[in-house]
Amino acid sequence: MCGIIGYVGDKEIVPLLLKGLQCLEYRGYDSAGIAIHEGHHLNVIKTIGKIAKLEEVLKIKKATNGTNGHSNCGIGHTRWATHGEPSNINAHPHFDTEEKIAVVHNGIIRNYQEVKDKLINLGIKFVTQTDTEVIVQLISENLKKTKSILDAILKAVKELEGSYAIAILFKDEPDKIYAVRKEAPLVIGIGNDENFVASDIPTLSQFVDKVIRLNDNEITVVAKNAVEFYDLNGGRIKKEPQIVTKTKDILDKKGFKHYLAKEINEQAEVISNLLKDFLPNPEKPVQLNHLKLEPDFIKSIDRILILACGTAYHAGLTAKYVIENLTSIPTEVQFASEFLSANSLLTKRSLVIGISQSGETADTITAIKKAVLTGATLLGITNRADSALADLAKEHLILSKAGVEISVAATKTFTAQIAVLYLFAVYTAEILGTADKTSLIKIKQELRELPQLIDQALVRAERYQEQVIKYADKPDFVFIGRGINYPIALEAALKLKELSYIHASGYASGEMKHGPIAVLDPNVPVVSIVVSGETYERVIQNSLEAKSRKAPMIAVAIDGDKKAESIFDTVLHIPQVSEIISPFLTVIPLQFLAYYIAEELGRDIDQPRNLAKSVTVE
Ligand code: G6P
Repeated sequence: MCGIIGYVGDKEIVPLLLKGLQCLEYRGYDSAGIAIHEGHHLNVIKTIGKIAKLEEVLKIKKATNGTNGHSNCGIGHTRWATHGEPSNINAHPHFDTEEKIAVVHNGIIRNYQEVKDKLINLGIKFVTQTDTEVIVQLISENLKKTKSILDAILKAVKELEGSYAIAILFKDEPDKIYAVRKEAPLVIGIGNDENFVASDIPTLSQFVDKVIRLNDNEITVVAKNAVEFYDLNGGRIKKEPQIVTKTKDILDKKGFKHYLAKEINEQAEVISNLLKDFLPNPEKPVQLNHLKLEPDFIKSIDRILILACGTAYHAGLTAKYVIENLTSIPTEVQFASEFLSANSLLTKRSLVIGISQSGETADTITAIKKAVLTGATLLGITNRADSALADLAKEHLILSKAGVEISVAATKTFTAQIAVLYLFAVYTAEILGTADKTSLIKIKQELRELPQLIDQALVRAERYQEQVIKYADKPDFVFIGRGINYPIALEAALKLKELSYIHASGYASGEMKHGPIAVLDPNVPVVSIVVSGETYERVIQNSLEAKSRKAPMIAVAIDGDKKAESIFDTVLHIPQVSEIISPFLTVIPLQFLAYYIAEELGRDIDQPRNLAKSVTVE
């Protein structure tokens, strides 16, 4: 939610800030801007729209001498609006009244109205509707009473409530960026004769191989050849850099039209890499020994509570079937935003699994913090080693290792999450002895075969495209599945909504007749997941009920399923797979369905309207 970049050094600053902002655009993209020291003043250039629009505005400014771009120090921001609609005025950076200070901010100032009222009473005029403007006006006000910039910032942040990562430029300090954070990410990139500030490590890894993560309530002063750190009392702190792998260009689409297509197509490789690490040999136990979960604790677990949001929640729902099936541990899955500790029934013997691709989702982090207060143990699953979740779950953390996912809609990180959760279920079952050895070996063998099977589904992309685009004019879709494929119906509906803006609902297929069937007519396609196994006949039965209401009928079914071919208008075939492993494959044609329909409708595939990939507000 909002991305921040900052640079101090001798390189040409505008292209550098733009590159940083492009890497951070997944965090929000309704408006963007930069502030640079130019001569004796701060130049702020900002606009509603995406980074590409900012680039155009900057070109025009350069051509008309509105900016010469000569600067050694600047900050940039890409926004996902919280307070105040997306507009030129509300775009960051924000100035104080005298235009001596420019601020970019990620997060929310909860007491902004209170602070704003106080400042208005002092005669300060606000020009934006943002909570951010109070930060810069407050610092400016404090500066009237102290000569020290550091003191002015420290005094301001002590008064602010909420979450923030803030980067600040001062007209009178031409070669320094000040930055501070609380409950929002901010990392410093250490280069040679240049230093950076950014919201995430992958962005910094485009430029440097050394980073220092700012912790909550730490403030930093970043200059070209020096970086200083302070606590909120102004005391100096020593921090050591960590080495990160300088990544190849994360913005490379590798020949695909969209990041989403690239990421869908990376799923076989992602699963293969996870298996190499965690299940090198199906005859041997799953290798999750880096978790410091004692076998005695595992044997004593009374319940598992999975907390997550969005796609990660669907991964949790899928995992519930596998965990309960293999370990018999009662497993509940909750939207993190719905978690109430008072009703949780958690004990010291409980395991809380927090799942979050970004590891930053505020709802998930808040719920986890509350949940662990019960004494329950936390296991974290995230794609980001540099995240709040990774910090919270230091001892028991599994990285989903899907690589950077740029497209806002999650695809490869979903399959990576379920892979990790399946492996965890098998690992636990092996310790508990709750499943017989032969069925565990069979599941492990099937997991090992997955990359090949996923590849076989991925190569059918064009066929899926031909099959689904004819439904692009439908205003509403219903997805149904049972058992382990019910969460996949939910995920498919979410993907279609996110990408195409078509309304879609996912249902447990048995529930159709209890209400949702009323919405069916020839304009509402029903997409059924019909995989051979325990649920097959009943999903078919529920699909026939939909067919009788003249709904266009689409199925995801296993190769050679003649019955499905005779019932459904369109069958999206997947390779032969067992029911328990099937979610890895049933989700693929459904990801493509959402993708191709959205493309047919001309939607903004990688950055759908109103969304952000990392939602750091509750
Ligand atoms: C946002 C994204 C969703 C994502 C959810 C959870 O709402 O738009 O695609 O599934 O956050 O994100 P997380 O990073 O916690 O997995």
